[in-house]
Amino acid sequence: MNRIDKLLAAMTLEEKIGQLNMIAAGYAITGPVLASGTEEDIRAGRIGSLLNLWGSANVNALQQIAVHNTRLGIPLLIGFDVVHGHKTIFPIPLAEAASFDPLLWEQSAREAAIEATADGVNLVFAPMLDITRDPRWGRIAEGPGEDPWVGEQFAKAKVRGFQDAGSAQGLTDARAVAATAKHFCAYGAALAGRDYASADVSDRQLLEIYLPPFAAAVTAGCAAIMPAFHDIDGVPMTAHVPLLQDWLRRKAGFEGVIISDYNAIAELLHHGIAADLAEAAASALQAGVDIDMMGGAYSQGLPAALARGLVSIEAIDAAVRRVLSLKERLGLFEDPFRRGSAGAPACRASMARRELAREAGRRSIVLLTNDGTLPLSRNLRHIALIGPLADARAEMLGPWALAGNAANAVTIQEGLAAALPNAEIAFAPGVTIAGDDTSGVAAALEIGRTAEIIILCLGEAAAMSGEAASRANPGLPGAQHALANAILGLGKPVVTLISSGRPLMISKIAAGTKALLATWFLGVEAGHAIADVLTGKFNPAGKLPVTWPREVGQVPIFYAERPSGRPANPDDPYTSKYLDMPVTPLFFFGHGLSYSRFSMSNLRADKAEFRRADELIIELDVLNEGPSAGEETIFLFARDLVASVARPLLELKGTCKIALAPRESGTVHFRLAAEALAFPGRDLARVFEPGEFLLLVGPSADPRGLLKLKVRALPG
Ligand code: BGC
Repeated sequence: MNRIDKLLAAMTLEEKIGQLNMIAAGYAITGPVLASGTEEDIRAGRIGSLLNLWGSANVNALQQIAVHNTRLGIPLLIGFDVVHGHKTIFPIPLAEAASFDPLLWEQSAREAAIEATADGVNLVFAPMLDITRDPRWGRIAEGPGEDPWVGEQFAKAKVRGFQDAGSAQGLTDARAVAATAKHFCAYGAALAGRDYASADVSDRQLLEIYLPPFAAAVTAGCAAIMPAFHDIDGVPMTAHVPLLQDWLRRKAGFEGVIISDYNAIAELLHHGIAADLAEAAASALQAGVDIDMMGGAYSQGLPAALARGLVSIEAIDAAVRRVLSLKERLGLFEDPFRRGSAGAPACRASMARRELAREAGRRSIVLLTNDGTLPLSRNLRHIALIGPLADARAEMLGPWALAGNAANAVTIQEGLAAALPNAEIAFAPGVTIAGDDTSGVAAALEIGRTAEIIILCLGEAAAMSGEAASRANPGLPGAQHALANAILGLGKPVVTLISSGRPLMISKIAAGTKALLATWFLGVEAGHAIADVLTGKFNPAGKLPVTWPREVGQVPIFYAERPSGRPANPDDPYTSKYLDMPVTPLFFFGHGLSYSRFSMSNLRADKAEFRRADELIIELDVLNEGPSAGEETIFLFARDLVASVARPLLELKGTCKIALAPRESGTVHFRLAAEALAFPGRDLARVFEPGEFLLLVGPSADPRGLLKLKVRALPG
């Protein structure tokens, strides 16, 4: 018998259920806090894993109890939300997605894993892979944005970063953590952008949009998956047999651990699909949920469910086996203390980590508009820094920074002061982030009047995005519009920075400002990263991973729309558009300017005709027209012109980066597997249909900037 068989044979029912029970240690609060008797329960074998606990001493104290003071000595899983960094907080995932840089995505996950493991953590609740097209939903901040292909690349990079410490030891390496892909799935489609609300999505949407990032995570070897809180079409994800069992376990071949979201099994009662905890526990277990996070539903409900014949002991054993296997994969049986025994990360390593955070920060910034005001002239002497986000240290960290320390964050004010030591930078917040008081506007106007340029720092608070942070009006909160109007009314050049976890509705401000930047929540190095971009020390290269609407009434808005029978035509009223605003977004998916200007030409492919097994090499020439060295991200989209099911107008199939000196030109190469042009047919089975395809390549999803080339798929 192997170790797991032996343990299973020796375990009581209570101990088995204990392995399926995850309890919050109460250090960090990410949901309703329940009463604890944690140590006692660990001792009795009633707890198999903990969350919200970090710090090697804290972890080791409880791990000691599990290993030395329980009957079977099974070590604990220690789970933590390491969504965008652990101690060194990196840009929020939506921001980091804007870098379109899988290596960076991997590196920041790797560094976060090094810090988290030093703190005793062996399981992270990340990456968050929810595709969403609705900026009302606050959790848009936590994921890779609107596009499934980007979601796939993000999934692979993050899983590698967390789980692969670069040694042959795999997940047993003391610097590797188990990743949890969440929230499975279509959570980003929640009704009206309201967190925890129902989603009504078609099977086609699941296959085309919401499942691919999770499939990529599974292929990358992701250790765990967390079902979402919500229901799809009446079936809560925590009890969704077709998606968890049929798709995830059987079709995608996922053999890892499924961990419920916080209290989600007990919430099956609120969903109205279970009458008591026994039914709730049975539904979740039957769907394949192995660990009950904070629901108490398995510990309280499974014994009754077993007695009533709602579940079998074999199903319980199978779940326990998966949990024990994960503990084994993590090397916990050999050495439960290997994570967290290395002591504090070396100072030099933490400096390098901050450098990476700065690099990630500046690569995440998206220059949305610029009339040439940026980069800031070196001759500037009088700058007015205005707005409630200019000196908002804690906000810079963003919504998931449980182990982060706000005191370590660099504000925009500090970043600018360090970058421009010879300029006088006057500061006035004008208003608070969400308050109504406009009495500070006068002081802001005062410093604005005498300045050569105004840098206006607007946005939302970190807690206004992330979980439970849906906004029906995702614009500038409080009196910030009044402040912006007053400042723009001065007639001075204004550069506006938007700190936010989502695209905010800022059409009017965008029109009135000389330059506009999405500066998201960039983490500990926010101020330096922003200053690097404003001063031109770093030439911005970020691109929007999400379409930026003009107004919330356009939501959901995304680039991969299907063609209408009556495409929008300004001269024809009976076409697909609005009476009161343009149908186009404020900024397209992929939009992002540079201080360089890039032109693209000569799109070509190595084959005009291809078959399913072929690969196409697609190339185009790019010229940096100047004036600075810069980097451009180029997007390859495809459109299937005639198919059995109407295909999106644009579908992302690849991105490519090129760095060029002024006046330098170069060639970018995409490799496109023809298989990537297959899609779920009318019966949802994957088909590759012969016929014409349009390849569209350019700097964003704005159709006006795309080069086009027709190619033909042949049968077979
Ligand atoms: C969130 C998850 C998170 C969990 C544990 C839940 O409320 O939805 O994303 O991992 O709490 O903190």
